[in-house]
Amino acid sequence: MAAEVQRGKLYLIGAGPGDAELLTLGAVRALARCDVVLYDRLVSPEVLSYAQPGAELIYVGKHEGDQDRTQARIFDLIRDRAYAGKTVARLKGGDPLIFGRGAEEWARALEEGIEVELIPGLSSALAVPALAGIPLTYRGVSSSLAVVTGHCCAIDVNAWAKHAAVDTLVVLMGVTNRQSAATALIRAGRNPDEPVAFIERGTLASERVIEATLAGVASGEVEVASPAVWVIGEVVQLRGKLRATAQESPEPVLEPQA
Ligand SMILES: C[S@@+](CC[C@H](N)C(=O)[O-])C[C@H]1O[C@@H](n2cnc3c(N)ncnc32)[C@H](O)[C@@H]1O
Repeated sequence: MAAEVQRGKLYLIGAGPGDAELLTLGAVRALARCDVVLYDRLVSPEVLSYAQPGAELIYVGKHEGDQDRTQARIFDLIRDRAYAGKTVARLKGGDPLIFGRGAEEWARALEEGIEVELIPGLSSALAVPALAGIPLTYRGVSSSLAVVTGHCCAIDVNAWAKHAAVDTLVVLMGVTNRQSAATALIRAGRNPDEPVAFIERGTLASERVIEATLAGVASGEVEVASPAVWVIGEVVQLRGKLRATAQESPEPVLEPQA
Protein backbone atom coordinates (compact mmCIF):
# COMPACT_ATOMS: atom_id res chain seq x y z
CA MET A 1 0.00 0.00 0.00
CA ALA A 2 1.33 3.45 -0.96
CA ALA A 3 2.38 5.64 1.99
CA GLU A 4 0.06 8.59 2.61
CA VAL A 5 1.57 11.91 1.46
CA GLN A 6 1.84 14.43 4.27
CA ARG A 7 -0.05 17.64 3.57
CA GLY A 8 2.03 20.69 2.77
CA LYS A 9 1.74 23.96 4.66
CA LEU A 10 0.42 27.29 3.37
CA TYR A 11 2.33 30.50 4.04
CA LEU A 12 0.08 33.52 3.52
CA ILE A 13 2.68 36.20 2.89
CA GLY A 14 2.47 39.98 2.54
CA ALA A 15 4.83 41.16 -0.20
CA GLY A 16 4.72 44.85 0.75
CA PRO A 17 4.00 47.55 -1.81
CA GLY A 18 6.61 46.62 -4.42
CA ASP A 19 10.17 47.54 -3.43
CA ALA A 20 11.81 44.28 -2.31
CA GLU A 21 13.65 46.19 0.46
CA LEU A 22 10.28 46.36 2.22
CA LEU A 23 9.89 42.58 2.53
CA THR A 24 10.06 41.25 6.08
CA LEU A 25 12.70 38.73 7.16
CA GLY A 26 9.85 36.27 7.71
CA ALA A 27 8.70 36.68 4.11
CA VAL A 28 12.21 36.19 2.72
CA ARG A 29 12.76 33.06 4.81
CA ALA A 30 9.39 31.54 3.88
CA LEU A 31 9.86 32.27 0.17
CA ALA A 32 13.22 30.51 0.27
CA ARG A 33 11.61 27.28 1.43
CA CYS A 34 8.40 27.14 -0.63
CA ASP A 35 7.92 24.73 -3.54
CA VAL A 36 5.10 26.76 -5.12
CA VAL A 37 4.43 30.51 -5.18
CA LEU A 38 1.00 31.85 -6.14
CA TYR A 39 1.40 35.58 -6.72
CA ASP A 40 -0.77 38.61 -7.44
CA ARG A 41 -0.63 41.37 -10.06
CA LEU A 42 1.02 43.88 -7.71
CA VAL A 43 3.91 41.60 -6.69
CA SER A 44 7.13 42.85 -8.29
CA PRO A 45 9.70 40.64 -10.09
CA GLU A 46 12.34 41.69 -7.49
CA VAL A 47 10.17 40.23 -4.74
CA LEU A 48 9.66 37.01 -6.72
CA SER A 49 13.43 36.65 -7.07
CA TYR A 50 13.50 35.60 -3.37
CA ALA A 51 11.58 32.41 -4.18
CA GLN A 52 13.49 29.16 -3.87
CA PRO A 53 15.31 28.44 -7.19
CA GLY A 54 13.19 25.99 -9.17
CA ALA A 55 9.98 26.84 -7.28
CA GLU A 56 6.83 26.73 -9.37
CA LEU A 57 5.71 30.36 -9.89
CA ILE A 58 2.01 30.71 -10.74
CA TYR A 59 0.47 34.07 -11.61
CA VAL A 60 -3.04 34.40 -10.16
CA GLY A 61 -3.69 38.14 -10.60
CA LYS A 62 -7.33 39.18 -10.73
CA HIS A 63 -8.89 41.22 -13.51
CA GLU A 64 -12.09 43.25 -13.56
CA GLY A 65 -15.10 40.96 -13.97
CA ASP A 66 -13.08 37.79 -13.47
CA GLN A 67 -12.40 37.98 -9.73
CA ASP A 68 -14.63 35.15 -8.55
CA ARG A 69 -13.38 32.67 -11.15
CA THR A 70 -9.76 33.54 -10.32
CA GLN A 71 -10.46 33.21 -6.58
CA ALA A 72 -11.93 29.74 -7.12
CA ARG A 73 -8.83 28.76 -9.12
CA ILE A 74 -6.60 30.03 -6.27
CA PHE A 75 -8.46 27.86 -3.70
CA ASP A 76 -8.09 24.85 -6.05
CA LEU A 77 -4.38 25.44 -6.59
CA ILE A 78 -3.68 25.80 -2.87
CA ARG A 79 -5.56 22.60 -2.07
CA ASP A 80 -4.07 20.56 -4.92
CA ARG A 81 -0.47 21.56 -4.23
CA ALA A 82 -0.78 21.24 -0.43
CA TYR A 83 -2.45 17.82 -0.76
CA ALA A 84 0.49 16.79 -2.96
CA GLY A 85 2.76 17.58 0.00
CA LYS A 86 4.11 20.88 -1.35
CA THR A 87 4.87 23.93 0.75
CA VAL A 88 2.85 26.75 -0.79
CA ALA A 89 3.47 30.51 -0.61
CA ARG A 90 0.46 32.69 -1.30
CA LEU A 91 2.16 36.00 -1.97
CA LYS A 92 -0.11 39.03 -1.89
CA GLY A 93 0.66 42.72 -2.42
CA GLY A 94 0.95 44.85 0.73
CA ASP A 95 -0.59 43.10 3.72
CA PRO A 96 -2.68 40.00 2.92
CA LEU A 97 -5.53 41.01 5.23
CA ILE A 98 -6.01 44.60 4.00
CA PHE A 99 -8.48 44.58 1.10
CA GLY A 100 -6.82 41.39 -0.07
CA ARG A 101 -9.21 38.50 0.60
CA GLY A 102 -6.35 36.91 2.54
CA ALA A 103 -8.60 36.01 5.46
CA GLU A 104 -10.92 34.10 3.09
CA GLU A 105 -7.99 32.05 1.78
CA TRP A 106 -6.78 31.44 5.35
CA ALA A 107 -10.23 30.20 6.49
CA ARG A 108 -10.70 28.06 3.41
CA ALA A 109 -7.30 26.39 3.83
CA LEU A 110 -8.10 25.55 7.47
CA GLU A 111 -11.42 24.03 6.35
CA GLU A 112 -9.43 21.83 3.96
CA GLY A 113 -7.19 20.70 6.83
CA ILE A 114 -4.17 22.68 5.62
CA GLU A 115 -1.87 24.29 8.21
CA VAL A 116 -1.53 28.05 7.67
CA GLU A 117 1.12 30.53 8.79
CA LEU A 118 0.44 34.23 8.26
CA ILE A 119 3.36 36.55 7.55
CA PRO A 120 2.03 40.13 7.56
CA GLY A 121 3.35 42.63 5.05
CA LEU A 122 3.73 46.41 4.95
CA SER A 123 0.49 47.73 3.54
CA SER A 124 0.67 50.20 0.67
CA ALA A 125 -1.79 52.29 2.70
CA LEU A 126 0.95 53.11 5.20
CA ALA A 127 4.29 52.58 3.44
CA VAL A 128 3.54 54.33 0.14
CA PRO A 129 2.56 57.72 1.64
CA ALA A 130 5.40 57.50 4.18
CA LEU A 131 8.05 56.97 1.52
CA ALA A 132 6.55 59.79 -0.55
CA GLY A 133 7.11 62.09 2.45
CA ILE A 134 3.52 62.24 3.72
CA PRO A 135 3.10 61.48 7.43
CA LEU A 136 -0.47 60.24 7.87
CA THR A 137 -0.72 61.67 11.38
CA TYR A 138 1.03 64.78 12.66
CA ARG A 139 0.67 66.52 16.00
CA GLY A 140 -1.75 69.42 15.64
CA VAL A 141 -2.55 68.63 12.00
CA SER A 142 -4.08 65.15 11.92
CA SER A 143 -5.02 62.94 14.84
CA SER A 144 -7.22 60.45 13.03
CA LEU A 145 -6.74 58.25 10.03
CA ALA A 146 -8.97 55.94 8.01
CA VAL A 147 -8.06 53.51 5.26
CA VAL A 148 -11.01 53.07 2.93
CA THR A 149 -11.79 51.45 -0.38
CA GLY A 150 -12.87 53.52 -3.36
CA HIS A 151 -14.08 50.47 -5.22
CA CYS A 152 -17.54 51.09 -6.61
CA CYS A 153 -19.01 47.77 -5.49
CA ALA A 154 -17.78 48.10 -1.93
CA ILE A 155 -18.84 51.66 -1.23
CA ASP A 156 -21.69 53.98 -2.15
CA VAL A 157 -21.83 57.75 -2.24
CA ASN A 158 -23.44 57.89 1.25
CA ALA A 159 -20.49 56.09 2.79
CA TRP A 160 -18.23 59.07 1.97
CA ALA A 161 -20.29 61.20 4.36
CA LYS A 162 -19.27 58.82 7.16
CA HIS A 163 -15.59 59.02 6.21
CA ALA A 164 -15.64 62.81 5.89
CA ALA A 165 -15.19 63.33 9.64
CA VAL A 166 -11.74 61.70 9.73
CA ASP A 167 -8.67 64.00 9.47
CA THR A 168 -6.64 61.91 7.01
CA LEU A 169 -8.25 59.58 4.50
CA VAL A 170 -6.22 56.99 2.62
CA VAL A 171 -8.14 55.57 -0.30
CA LEU A 172 -7.10 52.30 -1.94
CA MET A 173 -8.61 51.27 -5.28
CA GLY A 174 -9.82 54.86 -5.61
CA VAL A 175 -8.57 55.83 -9.07
CA THR A 176 -11.62 54.93 -11.17
CA ASN A 177 -14.19 56.60 -8.92
CA ARG A 178 -12.06 59.54 -7.77
CA GLN A 179 -14.31 62.20 -9.26
CA SER A 180 -17.53 60.99 -7.63
CA ALA A 181 -15.73 60.31 -4.34
CA ALA A 182 -14.25 63.83 -4.22
CA THR A 183 -17.64 65.35 -5.08
CA ALA A 184 -19.31 63.34 -2.31
CA LEU A 185 -16.67 64.38 0.24
CA ILE A 186 -17.13 68.07 -0.60
CA ARG A 187 -20.90 67.65 -0.32
CA ALA A 188 -20.35 66.06 3.08
CA GLY A 189 -18.55 69.21 4.25
CA ARG A 190 -14.91 68.62 3.35
CA ASN A 191 -12.99 71.75 2.31
CA PRO A 192 -12.74 71.90 -1.52
CA ASP A 193 -9.24 73.44 -1.19
CA GLU A 194 -7.99 70.59 0.93
CA PRO A 195 -4.73 69.15 -0.44
CA VAL A 196 -4.68 65.62 -1.82
CA ALA A 197 -1.99 63.43 -3.35
CA PHE A 198 -2.10 60.36 -5.55
CA ILE A 199 0.99 58.19 -5.34
CA GLU A 200 1.08 56.03 -8.43
CA ARG A 201 3.21 52.84 -8.42
CA GLY A 202 4.53 53.79 -5.01
CA THR A 203 8.01 52.60 -3.92
CA LEU A 204 8.89 51.50 -7.46
CA ALA A 205 11.34 53.25 -9.82
CA SER A 206 8.39 54.47 -11.90
CA GLU A 207 6.64 56.13 -8.92
CA ARG A 208 4.77 59.35 -9.70
CA VAL A 209 3.21 61.70 -7.17
CA ILE A 210 0.37 63.97 -8.26
CA GLU A 211 -0.67 66.72 -5.87
CA ALA A 212 -3.99 68.52 -6.29
CA THR A 213 -6.97 69.77 -4.32
CA LEU A 214 -10.21 67.96 -3.60
CA ALA A 215 -12.03 70.39 -5.90
CA GLY A 216 -9.51 69.67 -8.67
CA VAL A 217 -10.22 65.94 -8.39
CA ALA A 218 -14.00 66.56 -8.33
CA SER A 219 -13.75 68.63 -11.52
CA GLY A 220 -11.93 65.80 -13.32
CA GLU A 221 -8.65 67.63 -13.88
CA VAL A 222 -6.41 64.99 -12.24
CA GLU A 223 -4.88 62.34 -14.50
CA VAL A 224 -3.74 59.26 -12.63
CA ALA A 225 -3.44 55.53 -13.32
CA SER A 226 -3.90 52.50 -11.08
CA PRO A 227 -2.35 51.31 -8.79
CA ALA A 228 -2.31 54.45 -6.71
CA VAL A 229 -2.74 55.38 -3.07
CA TRP A 230 -4.86 58.51 -2.68
CA VAL A 231 -4.22 60.62 0.44
CA ILE A 232 -6.74 63.30 1.40
CA GLY A 233 -5.88 65.71 4.20
CA GLU A 234 -3.80 68.65 5.43
CA VAL A 235 -0.85 66.31 6.04
CA VAL A 236 -0.24 66.33 2.27
CA GLN A 237 1.22 69.84 2.56
CA LEU A 238 3.99 68.48 4.80
CA ARG A 239 5.40 66.56 1.87
CA GLY A 240 7.33 69.44 0.32
CA LYS A 241 8.92 70.31 3.64
CA LEU A 242 9.91 66.76 4.56
CA ARG A 243 11.35 66.00 1.15
CA ALA A 244 13.25 69.27 1.16
CA THR A 245 14.59 68.27 4.56
CA ALA A 246 15.85 65.01 3.16
CA GLN A 247 17.46 66.51 0.07
CA GLU A 248 18.73 69.95 0.91
CA SER A 249 18.58 72.17 3.83
CA PRO A 250 15.24 72.89 4.94
CA GLU A 251 12.68 75.27 6.11
CA PRO A 252 11.33 73.97 9.40
CA VAL A 253 8.47 71.50 9.05
CA LEU A 254 4.97 72.74 9.86
CA GLU A 255 4.74 73.84 13.45
CA PRO A 256 2.23 71.82 15.41
CA GLN A 257 -0.75 73.85 16.54
CA ALA A 258 -1.12 72.06 19.86
C1 LIG B 1 -6.71 45.07 -3.76
S1 LIG B 1 -5.92 46.39 -2.92
C2 LIG B 1 -4.72 45.47 -2.03
C3 LIG B 1 -4.04 46.26 -0.95
C4 LIG B 1 -2.90 45.51 -0.30
N1 LIG B 1 -3.37 44.34 0.39
C5 LIG B 1 -2.11 46.39 0.67
O1 LIG B 1 -2.15 46.16 1.89
O2 LIG B 1 -1.42 47.29 0.18
C6 LIG B 1 -5.00 47.10 -4.24
C7 LIG B 1 -4.79 48.60 -4.06
O3 LIG B 1 -3.66 48.83 -3.22
C8 LIG B 1 -3.02 50.02 -3.62
N2 LIG B 1 -1.61 49.71 -3.97
C9 LIG B 1 -0.99 48.54 -3.78
N3 LIG B 1 0.31 48.63 -4.10
C10 LIG B 1 0.52 49.91 -4.50
C11 LIG B 1 1.65 50.64 -4.94
N4 LIG B 1 2.87 50.07 -5.05
N5 LIG B 1 1.50 51.94 -5.26
C12 LIG B 1 0.30 52.53 -5.15
N6 LIG B 1 -0.82 51.90 -4.76
C13 LIG B 1 -0.70 50.60 -4.41
C14 LIG B 1 -3.81 50.60 -4.79
O4 LIG B 1 -4.77 51.50 -4.27
C15 LIG B 1 -4.47 49.36 -5.34
O5 LIG B 1 -5.62 49.67 -6.07
